[in-house]
Amino acid sequence: MISTANIRIDKIAKSRVTDYDVNNVPFGKCFSDHMFVAEYADGKWQNATICPYGDVPLSYAMSALHYGQAIFEGMKAYKNDKGEVSLFRPLENFKRLNKSAVRMCMPEVPEEIFMNGLLELLRLDSSWVPTSESGSLYIRPFLIATDEAIGVKPSETYKFIIITCPAGKYYSEPIKVVVETDYFRAVHGGVGFVKAAGNYGRSLYPTKLAQQKGYQQVIWTDSATHHFVEESGTMNLMFVIGDTLLTPALSDTILAGITRDSVIALAKHWGMKVEERKVSLKEVAEAYERGDLKEAFGCGTAATIAQIVGIGFEGKDFVLPPVEERKFSTKVDETLRLIRKGKAEDTLNWMMKI
Ligand code: PLP
Ligand code: COI
Repeated sequence: MISTANIRIDKIAKSRVTDYDVNNVPFGKCFSDHMFVAEYADGKWQNATICPYGDVPLSYAMSALHYGQAIFEGMKAYKNDKGEVSLFRPLENFKRLNKSAVRMCMPEVPEEIFMNGLLELLRLDSSWVPTSESGSLYIRPFLIATDEAIGVKPSETYKFIIITCPAGKYYSEPIKVVVETDYFRAVHGGVGFVKAAGNYGRSLYPTKLAQQKGYQQVIWTDSATHHFVEESGTMNLMFVIGDTLLTPALSDTILAGITRDSVIALAKHWGMKVEERKVSLKEVAEAYERGDLKEAFGCGTAATIAQIVGIGFEGKDFVLPPVEERKFSTKVDETLRLIRKGKAEDTLNWMMKI
């Protein structure tokens, strides 16, 4: 078992944090002083280390690069006005990483490695957590197959790594999305419900085509009929139709977002009607035509709540109500922000102090 006591810590000689304004850096481009690394070999986890962030020697033959045994998580830490740092629902990310590991035939990461590595890393790099209203430290835990071997089979060696970067908004403005009916993100029996690196690689080309047409993201539809909406980009998708919060039910083609779960929990806590079920494009289009489509938004760790102001579908653009009129999503966005920043009561027990 790896406890906090036996993580080897090799501290950076001089912190780089003063080289940056952590409240004002582009998303995902500036990395904090340290990283956590644990190795899996000979059937066991070993050599848990925190060391200065930086490049490492890895073989070009390593199996993650060739056969896609690569999974990741995305989570955030927040700083309150007293300078205390807390994580948002970290055990959910831990559980989801291991769900991904099982599906991708990789060893599960023990909770003490994931959590102790994460907490120690954050304690060392707490000065990198932004203090701004919408700032956070984005945390990227990932697991990669490291066998130096050509041949399609599960790797025998792996590395579990955590790196972090200060982050502001992922989308600076409300977005326009287009319904994708040629390409799909996930297929029944596939890996859409896990955070496998390949899911993101395959999404880039259709997203590029959508961006060339003036949209920021696509709405993915089901691969069998393209009649049902699934997700948007790297976000779960939500609509407010009339007075009901409507979102696609989880399935093996949809990632079980932790933000999605939190939005649903808050909506239910406030007594709002919530429906998790298959959502057809037809009913979204009909609600729009009737004037009942009040709100549409994506939700995810990086994106938080991303307001969708336009939906391209069958050559037409649905122009949605302005953000100022969106009571539910603006309230949920603000409530999540206040809970995370320690400014509202954490009634649902989501925050964990480091
Ligand atoms: N769907 C996909 C495909 C994602 O990549 C993400 C981001 O992690 C989400 C949904 C939202 O999940 P979460 O709220 O856990 O970040
Ligand atoms: C997240 O929301 O954490 C994601 O994983 C999205 C993206 C940065 C890949």
